Amino acid sequence: MTDTENWVVGCGVEDLDVGEVISIECEGRTLAVYRVSEDLFYSTDDICSHGYTHLSQGFFEDCTTDCPLHGGQWKRSLRAYNDRHSNLSGTYT
Ligand code: FES
Repeated sequence: MTDTENWVVGCGVEDLDVGEVISIECEGRTLAVYRVSEDLFYSTDDICSHGYTHLSQGFFEDCTTDCPLHGGQWKRSLRAYNDRHSNLSGTYT
């Protein structure tokens, strides 16, 4: 059973199209929200853990995001996709 009592609404389904990523402010955090398909969304910290830039400004396809500053690649799990950067940002579902 999932406790949804403390959930907050960050954005609506209608706020982004399939394949789109947007940046939102939610509970004092800057988050990136990704829409992978009609019914699959996920969210991560929007600020890259390597430097200060918005991952939502990078290239996003399927479950991989390319950071726009240095090209670091992040998978949905936010484990470093390549070995260049090992500090992980948070991920949210
Ligand atoms: S700032 Fe994102 S990879 Fe360097």
